[in-house]
Amino acid sequence: MLRFKNDIPAENATLRHDIYGGDVYVTPPCDGSQRLVSYAKDMIRDILNVPDIRRAHLELDEDTFFTRIGTLRRTLYLDEDYHKLLSATLAENGFDPDRMAFDPLRLRVICPDGHLNKKAAPVYFPHRDTWYAHPQCLIVYWTPLDDLDEHETFAIYPEYFDREVPNDSEVFNYDDWIKDGPDLKIGWQKQDSGMTATYPRSAEGFAPGEDVGFSCPAAGQVFIAGAHYHATRPQNTRKIRFSLDARLVHLDDAAANIGAPNADNRSTGDILKDYIKIKAA
Ligand SMILES: [Fe+2]
Repeated sequence: MLRFKNDIPAENATLRHDIYGGDVYVTPPCDGSQRLVSYAKDMIRDILNVPDIRRAHLELDEDTFFTRIGTLRRTLYLDEDYHKLLSATLAENGFDPDRMAFDPLRLRVICPDGHLNKKAAPVYFPHRDTWYAHPQCLIVYWTPLDDLDEHETFAIYPEYFDREVPNDSEVFNYDDWIKDGPDLKIGWQKQDSGMTATYPRSAEGFAPGEDVGFSCPAAGQVFIAGAHYHATRPQNTRKIRFSLDARLVHLDDAAANIGAPNADNRSTGDILKDYIKIKAA
């Protein structure tokens, strides 16, 4: 059974161990997550320049919206100030900045009925993040910009946490993925990449079993194993769903090959070499 926990344990090793075992932590906002969310909202307001950013899809044409959000995604991913803020946020949650590395912040933008847009199709594929060449000790950090109900977050398929999902993760090689630069990795920079790039997928028609969701307040924090089989939920709430996420690795666990069970991940390449490391101040 999937266990949700709400309090960060005193020992960070306990937190990591629980996550590697399949537990999902949904914890209250902290100073850092509130700052991340507040900065992200300010930047979205500035760049979209519409009265209500959650309804920007009604005001801007697809190309304009895509281009502006793409610029912002780049900044959030690459800017050192956001790396430092993410590192401080993780430290606030008990992670030792000297032992952590991360793949930085990604802004996710899920539009109402976005699943009907073929270009965005890969966003909704059920997957494990580890299928993208991350180590088995990958922890995903996720925080929404607004209060979200259970049907607005993402679906977790607990029956397949440690059971094989038929998939083609062997098609994913990290070094091929980045050979033309970081745009594909940052995501949704090239509008047509959803039609042309190679994304690992579950076998056609695979039924993932029980689907579990959760609600989360704005700037609430979710920590989940990168090995969890999960999917972004399509939504038609008429409002855009914005969230931030990042991928975290504890370097000692990576070196010791500690992490979630590997049921079926055959992706290749060394993504850890490009993870960001921030020295504690
Ligand atoms: Fe994911």
